[in-house]
Amino acid sequence: MKLVGKVALVTGAASGIGKAIATTLAKEGAAVVVADLNLDAARAVVKEIEAGGGKGLALVMDVTSESAVEAGMQQTVDTLGSIDILVSNAGIQIVNPIVEFKYEDWKKMLAIHLDGAFLTTKAALKHMIASKRGGTVIYTGSVHSHEASPFKSAYVTAKHGLLGLARVLAKEGAEHGVRSHVVCPGFVRTPLVEKQIPEQAKEFGISEEEVVKKVMLGKTVDGEFTTLDDVAQTVLFLAAFGTAALTGQSFVVSHGWFMQ
Ligand code: NAI
Repeated sequence: MKLVGKVALVTGAASGIGKAIATTLAKEGAAVVVADLNLDAARAVVKEIEAGGGKGLALVMDVTSESAVEAGMQQTVDTLGSIDILVSNAGIQIVNPIVEFKYEDWKKMLAIHLDGAFLTTKAALKHMIASKRGGTVIYTGSVHSHEASPFKSAYVTAKHGLLGLARVLAKEGAEHGVRSHVVCPGFVRTPLVEKQIPEQAKEFGISEEEVVKKVMLGKTVDGEFTTLDDVAQTVLFLAAFGTAALTGQSFVVSHGWFMQ
């Protein structure tokens, strides 16, 4: 049990990667706040955590709302005593060529991925500094934090932006014992990716099977999707790491799709 006595808040934790991270951190002894837009699904994840003997708290949190983020972070500290690990993970995907990309969609993407990362970081950092306990902030980036793909202008822009925020946080947080990391998965078979398969088939004019084989997994070394556990174990490793040796860095978890 590597995280006994720690409190973690994971955004977008009602589904997919966030859910896997939340349950993995809970298994290692952290009390985990499952923060999401979808309260019923967040409650179901907490039930799963509790069934495994862990401690969890479900929270409705829209990461694009400053007041909701501040309130959720305060509730976390009031209920569980501290905030030691923030996993800023909530995200969506909208795929379209630039010339057809609606400005509204661009703003929505940047709001969830970048405003959400900034607002949750700011809110958590205040408590991490005040408590003098320090902490770790982990962003769910993507291979698209390092690499571009057609039709993903807003996503690629936002995921690259997280690298900048993490690097600044590494420098500002150091004197307070706060560290930052970006975990960058390749394609993981979650609802976010399932939705893209038919969309990309249409954009590229190829079959769904070809999207999976060529577009998503074509550059991996083994033709395999990155798994939820691949990502969750990397987050756990970083959350439990004892020094600032790895702060400010990104870690690509992609079965060799992208090597830095
Ligand atoms: P998912 O669709 O399974 O889960 C995303 C969760 O975020 C949902 O529960 C949703 O309700 C929540 N969410 C959406 N907007 C929100 C908001 N404004 N406030 C709070 N919660 C919100 O997606 P998945 O695949 O688990 O993605 C999680 C993160 O991982 C995202 O940041 C995504 O960009 C990233 N990622 C995903 C990859 C994949 O292949 N699935 C690869 C690389 C990165």
